[in-house]
Amino acid sequence: MSLPHESEEGRACRVCGGPVHEFFDFGRQPLSDAFRDPRDTSPEYFFRLAVGICESCTMAQLVEEVDRDRMFHDAYPYHSSGSVYMRRHFEETAHRFLTDALTGPDPFVVEIGSNDGVMLKTVGKAGVRHLGVEPCRGVAELARSQGVRVRTDFFEASVAAEIVAAEGPADLIYAANTICHIPYIGSIFRGVDALLAEDGVFVFEDPYLGDIIDRNTFDQIYDEHFFFFTVRSVGAAAARFGFQLVDVERLGVHGGELRYTIARAGRREPSPAVAELAATEQRLSDRATLAGFAAGVDRIRDDVLELLHRLRAEGKRVVGYGATAKSATLLNYCGIGPDLVSVVFDATPAKSGRLMPGSHIPVRPPEEMADADPDYAVLFAWNHAEEIMTKERAFRDSGGRWILYVPDVHIV
Ligand code: SAM
Ligand code: TMP
Ligand code: ZN
Repeated sequence: MSLPHESEEGRACRVCGGPVHEFFDFGRQPLSDAFRDPRDTSPEYFFRLAVGICESCTMAQLVEEVDRDRMFHDAYPYHSSGSVYMRRHFEETAHRFLTDALTGPDPFVVEIGSNDGVMLKTVGKAGVRHLGVEPCRGVAELARSQGVRVRTDFFEASVAAEIVAAEGPADLIYAANTICHIPYIGSIFRGVDALLAEDGVFVFEDPYLGDIIDRNTFDQIYDEHFFFFTVRSVGAAAARFGFQLVDVERLGVHGGELRYTIARAGRREPSPAVAELAATEQRLSDRATLAGFAAGVDRIRDDVLELLHRLRAEGKRVVGYGATAKSATLLNYCGIGPDLVSVVFDATPAKSGRLMPGSHIPVRPPEEMADADPDYAVLFAWNHAEEIMTKERAFRDSGGRWILYVPDVHIV
């Protein structure tokens, strides 16, 4: 079924059907988490990575959608527990839920995109009834091995209906770095409507468009990140499906996120933070702001390439650190390959020994970094800078330097 504005202007908004104004085109890009076996000679999948904003409801979104089974499959390589800081973040989150949203008799929490159980294991240990919904079998098995109950499925309206029939309503539905991955947002809200208790809350956290624009973190744009939320766009989406945005909270993780709390319309008094933050967001949909963002991306691309070519001419050894999904956008937009960045170090077992998507830079475990003796390391996992720089202090102490590229290209 085609939506009203599916026309020559581009695809219709996935939330409201309004016209989407495209503001940046990264060209052909591979899947950001499709790490390749070096022996694999099959053709690589590419799609057009472009981002736009809805002129009706202000929701920023990708212009082309990748089929979910291509991205989220049994061998999905991202493990949430790979960062100590993130483990702590989710432990704190779980404790907060245990002391506020989950205090009634026999509370029930459902997490959408529970990955390796990083949040739910704390809930499980507290003896609270829970269910993770996670389509990728590999990470779901890791969660089960920690005592977490998981349904291996994509959350959507039909799955929510089955869960509520079998287990009753949920007092809390939670998702981190997952709702922005799901283009079929109508099915999500209908599922939440079916599953959520009358007074329950739907809480989710995702990268904030305000931070992406203000800090030039354009590499947050890749196949899996379909939506780029704001208070205004989430508030409008919630209202469309009979809900209300009742609280927002800024989070420092992943370079700047917002945590949204949504309740059934009219059930709770919205906190002042909702209107306060929304009032600062007019600029985020201005054409001038978006054009400025686009110019910033190209400036970073030019500066990164200039630096890497200069270092190569000087005979410096340059490596990368953190085989992030984000790095696929930078590497493939800039056309950076193993001639400029020889290897990327990453501690994730499922990534090690493979090649980065598109750029085909080899991924190796961080234990091999000292032997490689690099002069410079591009920090692709800039959102984990503090943790990684602390862990790899020896690199800096022996004269190595980190290259960061957001909000601008600089060396530390
Ligand atoms: N919540 C974890 C965190 O914040 O680290 C995992 C985030 S990971 C980037 C996104 C997760 O969402 C993946 O584990 C993916 O399999 C899952 N996912 C994607 N679509 C989903 C859906 N429709 N229902 C449930 N999980 C989904
Ligand atoms: P993320 O930015 O999507 O969370 O991905 C971070 C990547 O960086 C992930 O592949 C794991 C890797 N990483 C390390 O190799 N060492 C570390 O200390 C941390 C925090 C992350
Ligand atoms: Zn819209």
